[in-house]
Amino acid sequence: MLTQDQMKLAAATKALEFIPDDAVIGVGTGSTVNLFIEQLATIKHRVQGAVSSSEATTARLKALGIPVLDLAVVDDLPVYVDGADEVNHYLHMIKGGGGALTREKIVAAVAKEFICIADETKYVTVLGEFPLPVEVVPMARSYVARQMERLSKPGIRVHPELRMASGDKVFQTDNGNYILDVHGLNIAEPVSLETYINQIAGVVTNGLFAQRRADVLILGTQHGVEVKR
Ligand code: A5P
Repeated sequence: MLTQDQMKLAAATKALEFIPDDAVIGVGTGSTVNLFIEQLATIKHRVQGAVSSSEATTARLKALGIPVLDLAVVDDLPVYVDGADEVNHYLHMIKGGGGALTREKIVAAVAKEFICIADETKYVTVLGEFPLPVEVVPMARSYVARQMERLSKPGIRVHPELRMASGDKVFQTDNGNYILDVHGLNIAEPVSLETYINQIAGVVTNGLFAQRRADVLILGTQHGVEVKR
């Protein structure tokens, strides 16, 4: 019986096969990506460097001697490797459990190919059991929360929760914003919900990656690594 960490490591290691020579690589955020960064360090002589999706990832890349480049000066980003909190069979994802969703979405938008690395516990039929992270400008937090509550249906209460760091300290993203973790969404139509939430004033972005879904899913399972497209 493999542990979740062993399945994550298997997926992260397999991702190396998708890294082209001499390229700049987009690198996501999270525990699965941290394993990927360690693997990437073993072939760092073969890549030009990385574009990072968070301060945490930047620190790890630099610590392992992988040059970090500013996305604004990179013309060509052939691949972006990142994890997911949930991924469905269409390769739509919920992301942002680590709070890096906005920069992740920007780097993913630029990349030609999104490679999602995950263990089988993340693979779901319907998105939404994992609370959907929504990054908001701080002054808009109550307004956006009320708009999210309006998505409730008879018998299904949608409940946004302001993410806390520790004690009574509010979690702040790398961009200085807050996160609402929205519970109770049963996401049958991820593409339209992603658009709807992003149109609410004060929302920076939400953790649905459906318009820009993954192109490849590398899934670590009890029976080995599966590659899905
Ligand atoms: C970071 O903001 C997230 O989008 C992560 O990519 C996602 O939460 C997956 O993280 P783990 O690999 O730690 O589960």
